[in-house]
Amino acid sequence: MDRIRIRGGRPLHGEIEISGAKNSALKLMAAGLLTDGELVLSRMPRLADTRFLGQLLAHLGVEVEEQAGSKLRLHAAQIDDPYAPYDLVRKMRASFNVLGPLIAREGRAKVSLPGGCAIGARPVNLHLEALEALGAEIVLEEGYVLAKAPAGGLRGARVVFPMVSVGATEHAMLAAVLAKGETVLENCAREPEIIDLADCLTAMGATVEGAGDAEIRIQGVDRLKGADWAVVPDRIETGTYAIAAAAAGGDVVLKDARAEHNHALWRALQRAGAEIVEDEASVTVRRTGALKPVDIQTEPFPGFATDLQAQFMALMALADGASIIRETIFENRFMHVPELGRLGADIQVRGNEAVVRGPSALKGAPVMATDLRASVSLVIAGLAAEGDTVVNRIYHLDRGFERLEDKLSACGADVVRESE
Ligand code: UD1
Repeated sequence: MDRIRIRGGRPLHGEIEISGAKNSALKLMAAGLLTDGELVLSRMPRLADTRFLGQLLAHLGVEVEEQAGSKLRLHAAQIDDPYAPYDLVRKMRASFNVLGPLIAREGRAKVSLPGGCAIGARPVNLHLEALEALGAEIVLEEGYVLAKAPAGGLRGARVVFPMVSVGATEHAMLAAVLAKGETVLENCAREPEIIDLADCLTAMGATVEGAGDAEIRIQGVDRLKGADWAVVPDRIETGTYAIAAAAAGGDVVLKDARAEHNHALWRALQRAGAEIVEDEASVTVRRTGALKPVDIQTEPFPGFATDLQAQFMALMALADGASIIRETIFENRFMHVPELGRLGADIQVRGNEAVVRGPSALKGAPVMATDLRASVSLVIAGLAAEGDTVVNRIYHLDRGFERLEDKLSACGADVVRESE
């Protein structure tokens, strides 16, 4: 297994090109199941997670072809068997999103439940309730969801989500586009990835209105066609490198970043003492002075993203004073705290709050990646620490960050991948 070694203490100077958003790409790939035409996705991030989903799609009978220039061609001319086995779903939770498209297209599906996950229970009840509202008959059996559409196919319905869920909103959209009649989704998540999915589905011939608002209206159509679609740039990757620049010091231009997708982070970074310059197709982050403590609370979009919480905590360990970080989306999303502690951070957890007392003179140490966002917070801490930090178990990083060590090295960081 690979690990990453970071020799800290160097500021970052340079440009980083932001990849397509993992979280959007995974749902767009699932949309490829909805048509017998070709869906060609460009700005596709090459990640372990997108590869896992590609394997599942291939198992379902989809032609999956990586093309030059970060493109992925999907062609689901026909579905062999709408069955997603445990071994292919357990590796990555978002694989579960094939369920809705399979019921919509094939009228039936058998898909493994995704199981638990290191950052909390993460159930799929909201996904299943939305599909049931559209008429699907669902039985849980031996860890699998067995689903059947009614005679004549799924039918439009009004779905009121009891809580905001990105995955359930997307899953309902992926099924409703091929249902008969109108679907109204209420209390929807408003993340940019939802708009990206709606716009891609529209390019495929679907009628979707209101994505980005709490209410989404979909008029079902009989069939969808292929399309060419560019994945939205990754706001979490953007935010991660912005925080890295603030932590290490220096100035970094994030190319292709969509500034408007990270406003909550920009406000927090500015209060912490960083300078943010927003341009149409880039964001520049600069930090020369001392860091100040800032309290944050994670919230659904447009609030502070839970996927940037761990990274911001690493930054706050360097700030002069105490900050409070409150996690409201997931329970058990503080697994990076003991690892940051190994690097010298002073963090105390009380329920869903962490109190970070800085500034800590971080010192390099061997640490263990526990989940995707937690692992990159250790990289950020390592960039600012004195000496060598070795992050083990980096398969978590490879799930979500494309060529992380290359992108950081190009800005002057000393980051290398080693085989254990
Ligand atoms: C997506 C993102 C993830 C991000 C999260 C919140 C992908 C692949 N992942 O995850 O990176 O951290 O949004 O921005 O896009 N919940 C239920 N029942 C359900 C579904 C969710 O109780 O059926 C709960 C979850 O446990 C969690 C909350 O709802 O506490 C929000 O989760 P959700 O928005 O669904 O996150 P994901 O779509 O899984």
